[in-house]
Amino acid sequence: MSEFTQQSQTQPIGVFDSGVGGLTVLKHLIHSMPGEEFVYLGDTARVPYGNKSPETIRHYTRQCVNFLLSFDVKAIVIACNTASALALDLARDISPVPVIGMIHPAAVSAVEQSITKKIGIIGTRATIGSHAYEHEIGNVAESKGLNIEVYAKACPLFVPLAEEDFGQHPSAAMIAHEYLHEFLALGIDILVLGCTHYPLLKDLIGKTLPDISLLDCGETAAKELCNILQIEEQKQAGELPIVRLFTTDSVHAFSSIAERCIGFPLPDPIRISPETLEEQGLSGI
Ligand code: DGL
Repeated sequence: MSEFTQQSQTQPIGVFDSGVGGLTVLKHLIHSMPGEEFVYLGDTARVPYGNKSPETIRHYTRQCVNFLLSFDVKAIVIACNTASALALDLARDISPVPVIGMIHPAAVSAVEQSITKKIGIIGTRATIGSHAYEHEIGNVAESKGLNIEVYAKACPLFVPLAEEDFGQHPSAAMIAHEYLHEFLALGIDILVLGCTHYPLLKDLIGKTLPDISLLDCGETAAKELCNILQIEEQKQAGELPIVRLFTTDSVHAFSSIAERCIGFPLPDPIRISPETLEEQGLSGI
């Protein structure tokens, strides 16, 4: 990727999501690249993105990308399927550094792993409505001469369940059954968790669909970025990641879920108001 030629290994990697979901991606990024510095933005004041219009999602994405660019990052990870589905093109247009989305790496991995050639996708309304996964899986399958059936379903209540840490509650099992039971009869062997909040509900989803492999798009995206950085000799060696967290709403709620998700103590998140993001989005970088 020629965008890297002016970059330096020591620059941070920018990561954003509408809320805490992207922390499931950050966990895999840290695991694959433990020597890096990460700047994470969770736009918790405006979550969920998944029920909003494409115009609003693109508007917010522009602001988040510009915010991360102000840290002189060497790459940006859109740790949000909704923003990846609706605004990856925009993010790549405005960013002078490489931008990794969630959908392509997950689509490649799903096609490679599926034996039945029937793949399920769950995501937000906006992601499923965009048909981005069907397009991407269709392209990957065509390039390999395969015929793949894709079954997609929006599960909008999963994001608030994850944000509220409600995965163990009996009501969550009822909601999961309501959304997912139809996948049991379809012959799928892979279910793509096409929303970065959903790995926070992995136990719940796994219990509802016991014989289906769950694909975590954060894991596949982290592998893709790690490969790119290695090829471009931009990967920072070391074992001590630096993580800086920013959130557009309450730092307290964000902090406890962040530590649980990442698995080690993190510095306190810093609050940045949506109005500040708005100003940056308008002025650009
Ligand atoms: N975590 C995000 C995703 O991967 C968005 C959830 C939301 O804000 O609706 O789609």
